[in-house]
Amino acid sequence: MPAVTVVGVGPGDPDLLTVAAVRAIAAAAVVAYPVAQPEAEGMAARIAAPWIAPGQRRLPLLFPMVEEPEPRIAAWHAAADALAAEVAAGRSVVLLCEGDASLYASCSYALLALRRRHPGCALTVVPGITAVAAAAAAASSLGLPWPLALQQESLLIRPTPETPAELEALLERSAAEGTVLALLKLGRRWAWLRPLLERRGLLGQCLFARRVGWPDQLLASADQVPAEEQPYFSLLLIRQAWPAVLP
Ligand SMILES: C[S@@+](CC[C@H](N)C(=O)[O-])C[C@H]1O[C@@H](n2cnc3c(N)ncnc32)[C@H](O)[C@@H]1O
Repeated sequence: MPAVTVVGVGPGDPDLLTVAAVRAIAAAAVVAYPVAQPEAEGMAARIAAPWIAPGQRRLPLLFPMVEEPEPRIAAWHAAADALAAEVAAGRSVVLLCEGDASLYASCSYALLALRRRHPGCALTVVPGITAVAAAAAAASSLGLPWPLALQQESLLIRPTPETPAELEALLERSAAEGTVLALLKLGRRWAWLRPLLERRGLLGQCLFARRVGWPDQLLASADQVPAEEQPYFSLLLIRQAWPAVLP
């Protein structure tokens, strides 16, 4: 039966697709993927490129990166309608999503819009590998073992705070509660974040991860990374303490 299958890909490395993801792509007549501009290639499509056959039709879905709600809502509706139209015409379609489709993903909005606007449309989701898990694994593979959470610890995955005051408060709460932090959307905020972490003596306990899975990936202890603007595809893991009993 034709369906929409939302598929997590990467992050970065085309080998970081599950068997289910590769099979879903192979079985689809149409491969949809988010783009931020009309002619852009799309990060998810780039990652999945080795798994897309020349005969498969590509369907870029425009998700503009703007603050105003109206154009974004219109784009989510348009994406849901385009996906549902393929299924109604008897074609299976995969929607590619960088990392996992449930974590800060444009595809989540398409999924919500699809459910609301086309409740009869068959829909499956194939989980992906989040950038946080990929960063921890890549660091460990490079000799910087980085368990995300142990024993009674919590793991908080969230966008990087907008201000130093917010970060200070977050660090204090996390230290008190035994929470490991994974800060996404680090980018330009690294320029003020690094000096703040240095002042608190935390740099050596942070893992900096840039473009994980790409040939130019960088995984490093944060004290090795200068305080300058970083690309959008960068994140920071912060562990302020370790459990008492360790190997
Ligand atoms: C919109 S979120 C997408 C998260 C994605 N759905 C996931 O499951 O990881 C984008 C943020 O995730 C992080 N990210 C995604 N891919 C990354 C990569 N390859 N390397 C480093 N960080 C990445 C960055 O912090 C980036 O700003």
